[in-house]
Amino acid sequence: MKDRTRIRSLADHVGETVLLCGWVRRRRSSGSKLHFLQLDDGTGSTQVVVKKGNVPEEQLAAAGHVPFESTVIVRGEVKEDARQAGGVELAAQDFQVLNAAVAEFPIGKKEHGVGFLMDNRHIWLRSRRPQATLRIRAEIIRACRDHLDGRGFTCVDAPIFNSAAAEGTATLVPVEYFGETVYLSQTGQLHMEAAAQALGDVYCFGPTFRAEKSKTRRHLTEFWMLEPEMAFADLEESMDVMESLIAHVIERVLTNCRPELDALERDVSKLESCIPPFPRLSYTDALKQLEGTDAEIPWGEDFGAPQEDLVTTAFDRPILVHRFPTKIKAFYMRPDPAQPEVVLGCDMIAPEGYGEIIGGGERSSDLAYLEAKIAEHGLPKEAYEWYLDLRRYGANPSAGFGMGLERVVSWICDLGHIREAAPYARTMARTYP
Ligand code: 4AD
Ligand code: MG
Repeated sequence: MKDRTRIRSLADHVGETVLLCGWVRRRRSSGSKLHFLQLDDGTGSTQVVVKKGNVPEEQLAAAGHVPFESTVIVRGEVKEDARQAGGVELAAQDFQVLNAAVAEFPIGKKEHGVGFLMDNRHIWLRSRRPQATLRIRAEIIRACRDHLDGRGFTCVDAPIFNSAAAEGTATLVPVEYFGETVYLSQTGQLHMEAAAQALGDVYCFGPTFRAEKSKTRRHLTEFWMLEPEMAFADLEESMDVMESLIAHVIERVLTNCRPELDALERDVSKLESCIPPFPRLSYTDALKQLEGTDAEIPWGEDFGAPQEDLVTTAFDRPILVHRFPTKIKAFYMRPDPAQPEVVLGCDMIAPEGYGEIIGGGERSSDLAYLEAKIAEHGLPKEAYEWYLDLRRYGANPSAGFGMGLERVVSWICDLGHIREAAPYARTMARTYP
């Protein structure tokens, strides 16, 4: 079937005889002599007309009974038809059922519960919304890589099996490893800091694991994180890169994914307004905005969803909140020399209630400070010796960040829950299918 034509390019073959492979998604018959099949092949959808006289009798009968989702191979002539999507249809001359579906497809037009759809994710993928979402996800991945590659970053993959935590021990996922316990990666950051000392501007983009015991619409236990790290960069520069990256991603999706955004009924004006500069405000100033609201918190407490949602309501684009309290942030963050009770870190918070999509900032290059922090956090120092070496051998300032891919996909696609942003979501309660 190497000579098959993709439905996507069918309109380029008007008047020609082509071979299509696909799945029968719908059927309409006009008596026993004329059948209209909707054929999908992943690249598009087209109408196949199977008509008495054009195909052998047994093929005509087969076309009238072929169950939905069956795989078929059709040879026929591409005809112009303005009424059809894509402006063409296929007049079948040879209709072969390769594999008929043997059970009734469980996902129909009626509303299904989310639990049912997630249990059937492997076949739910065939529906319009998951297809559109996964195509947008792929474009976001391409846009991220293109943006960083185009700026001279080197992609350096981070390991998945690790000997220690980087983002707190509460969410570590332990695995048995040749008689020892090791942990699945929570972040590639520490390894990117080492790579940045060798290669300058680097990034990793891979799976990340966190034993999130919370059941929220923003948390997965397995997600993908893009993590740029830049030697000699500071907080400001890191915020500039966050901003230009997200602006590029939005622009690319708006340019290349219109049909998918339409399929999702996305209000694109909400994306079109996401133009830099993105507002920047400190944690302390953000708290002032929360004063007198239901989301008010005392200085020193971390943001949760209510705080994130409220501080963004005044803005039509993502915002950057910087200088969070030192005591609520990770051990590696560099305290602000002007006010050591806050760190030179920053979160990007998406509009429309999608919460934190990026976290990052400057790293401490102070060996003694990091040793003290590792002790204070109760972390096993021997597991961090290699990381401390980076401060022993020419400690340089460095900054970077982590962008949660599924959080960005959720926001851009306006999804109700982050589980729809992953091809196969993994949460506390789900590892199937
Ligand atoms: O803010 P986080 O924890 O930052 C880090 O891990 C840094 N080490 C990154 C770095 O500086 N290189 O996580 C970064 C982002 C969050 O902003 C969020 O978008 C996403 O990762 N994220 C999650 N996404 C889905 N499910 C979860 N459980 C997530 N936890 C974090
Ligand atoms: Mg964070």
